[in-house]
Amino acid sequence: MDFDWLRKHGSFPKENAEAYDVVKKYSDNLKANLDSGKGLILRGPAGTGKTSIAVSILKRAMTLGKGCLMISMPNLLDTMLTLSKGDNVAYLRFEQKLRNIPLLLLDDFGAEYSKSDWVPSKVESIIIDRYNRMKPIILTTNYSDTWTKENYSQRVYDRLRGEYAVAIFNGESHR
Ligand SMILES: Nc1ncnc2c1ncn2[C@@H]1O[C@H](COP(=O)(O)OP(=O)(O)OP(=O)(O)O)[C@@H](O)[C@H]1O
Ligand SMILES: [Mg+2]
Repeated sequence: MDFDWLRKHGSFPKENAEAYDVVKKYSDNLKANLDSGKGLILRGPAGTGKTSIAVSILKRAMTLGKGCLMISMPNLLDTMLTLSKGDNVAYLRFEQKLRNIPLLLLDDFGAEYSKSDWVPSKVESIIIDRYNRMKPIILTTNYSDTWTKENYSQRVYDRLRGEYAVAIFNGESHR
């Protein structure tokens, strides 16, 4: 499924017209956004199409020759916790990849939160590092802006708020 396919065949519910416009604008300026480190947040309830449309942007980024990595947050944290207890080289390689890949898609941001204390600080460090080096992140989340503010540090919240386009999805699940 890519963005053009979605345009043609997707049932674009009226309540998501604005969200799709934000995504379309981001996608139309993708090269400039990737080069300037501008990210995108897709926020909204389960099943509203956030991950599908995020993947369509990744596919477009790949046609521009940009390396992309998609990982769900629970999976990211499980991998980090497991690797951090074992082979140091494998762990560092994984973390370097998260920091250096041109476009990172963090799917289900917030779903990792309860797993450990170490986790939010690790995620914060990666987000801030990528921000400083103008490397964009696309982030999907079920959590509200307020939740992010309360559960991540002000430093992360400010960066996400200041430098990211935000598409808010509403309505019923497509599932
Ligand atoms: N515009 C659309 N029209 C019809 N079906 C869609 C549309 N967008 C996505 N879908 C379908 O709806 C289902 C849910 O989509 P998706 O996984 O992208 O939602 P999500 O917002 O990421 O949900 P979650 O918050 O649970 O991760 C999928 O089966 C997907 O193929
Ligand atoms: Mg999803």
